Amino acid sequence: MDNEFNFEPRVVEPSVTPEDFDMENDLRPKYLNEYIGQENLKLNLKIAIEAAKMRNEVLDHILLYGPPGLGKTTLARIIANEMGVNIRVTSGPAIEKPGDLAAIITNLQENDILFIDEIHRLSRNVEEVLYPALEDYVLDLIIGKGPSARSIRINIPKFTLIGATTKAGSITNPLRDRFGILFKLDTYKENEIIQIIKRSSGILGIRCDEDGAEQLAKCSRGTPRIANRYLKRVRDFAEVMGDGYITREVAVEALKNMGVDRLGLDNLDRRLLRAIIENYNGGPVGLETLAAMLGEDADTLEDVCEPYLMQMGFLTRTPRGRCVTPRAYNHLGISGPVTGAKETFGQESLF
Ligand code: ADE
Repeated sequence: MDNEFNFEPRVVEPSVTPEDFDMENDLRPKYLNEYIGQENLKLNLKIAIEAAKMRNEVLDHILLYGPPGLGKTTLARIIANEMGVNIRVTSGPAIEKPGDLAAIITNLQENDILFIDEIHRLSRNVEEVLYPALEDYVLDLIIGKGPSARSIRINIPKFTLIGATTKAGSITNPLRDRFGILFKLDTYKENEIIQIIKRSSGILGIRCDEDGAEQLAKCSRGTPRIANRYLKRVRDFAEVMGDGYITREVAVEALKNMGVDRLGLDNLDRRLLRAIIENYNGGPVGLETLAAMLGEDADTLEDVCEPYLMQMGFLTRTPRGRCVTPRAYNHLGISGPVTGAKETFGQESLF
C-alpha cells in the first residue's frame, strides 16, 4: 500500500540530491566519446567545437534545455574538456546581484566557460548586465549610489556562456537571442540507459546481468540520474539479501521495496492517478486543484510526474484539465470506464 506520508526524497526525483553528488562525479563521462546517447546533439557539438578550435575562436554561447537529470552539467564539463579550457559552474539563483556576476566574469580567463544552471531564474538586473558581456565582452557597472553614482565600462576576456534550463519557455527573448547554439536534450532510449547502467556498473564494480540492467532501465524514466541511483540502491539490496548480483528478480524486488513499480511509477505518480480517478471520476481536473489535494508543489507534478505519465499513456492534458486514461485504470487494477481494447495490465503487474 502506498505511504501517504512519505517524507523521504522520491527515489525517482530527477533533481540532484546530496547522495547523488559524489556518485555523479565518479560516473560522469569526461569526453564526448564516452557520452552515451543524444547522438544528434553530439554530432552538432563536435562540429561546433572543431570549427572553433580550427579558427582559434571562442566557442559560441550555448543554451542546453530539457528535463532534469539528463546530463546538462555533464555536457558543459565535457565541452570544457574538449576545448581545453577552464569551467566555472554556478546557477541562476546563486547570482543575486550584478556585482556577483561581475566578480565571476572578471575572474575568467580568455576562452573559459561560464556555466549557469537554472539560467531562467536569473534576476532582471543580473540579466541586463549579462547582455553586453555576451555580445561585446564588456561590463557596464554602476559605481556608488545617488547623485554621485557613475557608470563605468570594463573589458572582459572573451568567454563562452553555457546556460542550462528545464524551462525553455521561461527564458526571456533577449537572453535566448544571445545564444548562438541551442541544444535540446531528450529522454534516453531504453537501450541507451542499459549502456549507461553497464558503464556505471563497470566503474563502480557492481555485478549486474543483462536482464537486471534491462529491468533497471525500464523503470528509469529515460533518465541517467535515476538509473544510476537505482543501480547503487539495488546493489545494496542485492548484497544484503542475496549474493550481490543484480538480476531481474533482484531488481524488481528492490524497486518494489522503494515503492517503484514495474513501469517505473512511484507512490506520488500513483497517488496522482488515483486522486483523479477517485475524486474526479477520471478527470478533467486542474493542476492547482490536484496539487492542493496531494499536498505537492504544482511545478513538481507538472515537470516531474506528468511528462512520464503522459509518455506512458496514463494521463492526458486537455484545455479543461488533466484526464486519466483507461490504461491507467488497468495498470492500477481499478475498474473504470469501458476501455474498448482490452489491456494486458492487471493489479498483479504493478510490481
Ligand atoms: N552517466 C550519466 N549520463 C551519462 C551519459 N549520457 N553517458 C555516459 N554515462 C553517463
